[in-house]
Amino acid sequence: MKALLIIISYLLGSIPFGYLIVRHVSGDDVRRSGSGGTGATNVARRAGKGAGFLTLALDAAKGAAAVAVARSILSRGGEVDWGVAMASIAVVIGHIFPLWLGFRGGKGVATGLGVLLVLSPMAVLVLAPIFVIIVWLTRYVSLGSITAAVLLPFVIWLLNSETARPIPLLTAASIISAVVILRHWGNIVRLLRRTENKLIWR
Ligand code: G3P
Repeated sequence: MKALLIIISYLLGSIPFGYLIVRHVSGDDVRRSGSGGTGATNVARRAGKGAGFLTLALDAAKGAAAVAVARSILSRGGEVDWGVAMASIAVVIGHIFPLWLGFRGGKGVATGLGVLLVLSPMAVLVLAPIFVIIVWLTRYVSLGSITAAVLLPFVIWLLNSETARPIPLLTAASIISAVVILRHWGNIVRLLRRTENKLIWR
């Protein structure tokens, strides 16, 4: 059952909402424009902020759905066990390396947000304002995403008492954080060279 739920999570994560929305709106492949990602930021660049917000909501929803289903089936007490942790990693990996799109997808931020909304809403309450402030001040979505990803494992660590540190949750948060940061490698290089795309609302 655990393995099946992990595979379902991966397949759910693989649903390329951003790609499908841009295909529907303009017929284009969003991976051929802007940063090449299928996430909300690049969709907003290509198809406008409405399409971007829709992508954000749907990508977050698939992350939330995958872990909510895994948790309801695998962990009766509602705690994050290893099966749920693996399902949460799988849905983010599915988004970044989607089976349906030749393994070229997004950067995992919105899907990770959905995962976190279910597993640790308090962490979202801490990280979301930090993300928004950074994006607001710099207009670099990637800088907000990378900062939130770097802070994620520490925030999960601090939010849980010393006696009951949830090791599967901490492991999932650390792996998701690392994958999201690595997937932003091109953004990091552009940020250092000051050539990163700024957020422009259309
Ligand atoms: O969530 C993705 C964001 O952090 C960066 O997107 O398209 O500017 O690489 P993009």
